[in-house]
Amino acid sequence: SSQQQRKLRQPIVVVLGHVDHGKTTLLDKIRGTTVALKEPGAITQHVGASVVPASVIEKLAEPLKKFLPRFKLIIPGLLFIDTPGHEVFSNLRRRGGSVADFAILVVDIMEGFQPQTYEAIEILRQRRVPFLVAANKIDRIPGWKPHPDQPFLISYRMQKPEVQQRLEELLWNIIGEMYKLGFRADRFDRIKDFTKTVAVVPVSAKTGEGIPELLAVLAGLTQQYLQKRLMYAEGPAKGVVLELREQPGLGVVADVIIYDGILRKGDIIVTGGLEGPVITRVRSLLMPKPLVEIRTAKRELESVDEVVAAAGVRIVAPELEKAVAGAPIFVARDEEEAKELAKKVMEE
Ligand code: GTP
Ligand code: MG
Repeated sequence: SSQQQRKLRQPIVVVLGHVDHGKTTLLDKIRGTTVALKEPGAITQHVGASVVPASVIEKLAEPLKKFLPRFKLIIPGLLFIDTPGHEVFSNLRRRGGSVADFAILVVDIMEGFQPQTYEAIEILRQRRVPFLVAANKIDRIPGWKPHPDQPFLISYRMQKPEVQQRLEELLWNIIGEMYKLGFRADRFDRIKDFTKTVAVVPVSAKTGEGIPELLAVLAGLTQQYLQKRLMYAEGPAKGVVLELREQPGLGVVADVIIYDGILRKGDIIVTGGLEGPVITRVRSLLMPKPLVEIRTAKRELESVDEVVAAAGVRIVAPELEKAVAGAPIFVARDEEEAKELAKKVMEE
């Protein structure tokens, strides 16, 4: 029968925001924190992305049990994509929307909304990507006493009243800006209906405060509201080309985000090019080596036979120099299907 077994994949979470507001530091902190937990497989590095597994999210969210008594994870983890610039996010297109299932909009709480913050919100609105706001750099609020890696709500309670008040004012600036843009927003622990209100999670990417809530809210929202979207078929892969790059000895290779299905070595792939569709065959699939100490990882890659959605992977294949970043990429079962897919690819 045509019935395929369907499983829940990791939500693809893209991190956006104004320059210097702390996107990369936030992801580094999440990675560092998860490595520090010394969970087996605490973090897996992908090309252009990283996965925080469910076991780690559960562990980090443990101190939150009081606030989230019914918190139970059903997703296998979260796949994070950093965006160094807007080009990359703009590339993450899929028909009628975005490859991103969810986004974190990082806003420096001291600086508030800045030009690229507005730009990011506009893109999220156009592509209908649900998001939360990480109100970052709370440690920079004058008088803030850091409690490293603690939940925000615990650290908040231990701050002086005037510091708490300052935080509330700064949060209100963010909430007010959101309101002007037509979004209802509120501090995450004051929200009753998350389908109507954008969650604002105060965090410090430097001290790690608020990271437990950030991950718990992300996991909670994505698994509650996006389950249907997160079912993946164990069929041919679908993805999007994040970036093309020249790799010495291998020619032009494609860094790809796979959002559905399975990609295997030897598969026929179809993608878009500037001068028409590109049909080629996967020569090899490269992934960062597992268990490489994060801090010293020098992007060492090793060949794998297959990758399962959601994943970031580097594809080595002939003719990729004709491909274009942002194009969809599909696996074809045979030459005939490849021709059909070639038409589809050029429509997008
Ligand atoms: P681009 O990729 O250039 O857009 O910047 P980004 O958003 O990735 O910012 P990045 O993580 O590079 O951080 C910018 C600066 O802010 C760095 O000096 C960080 O150390 C600092 N920073 C980031 N998060 C925090 C925070 O929570 N607290 C404090 N005090 N500094 C932070
Ligand atoms: Mg960055």
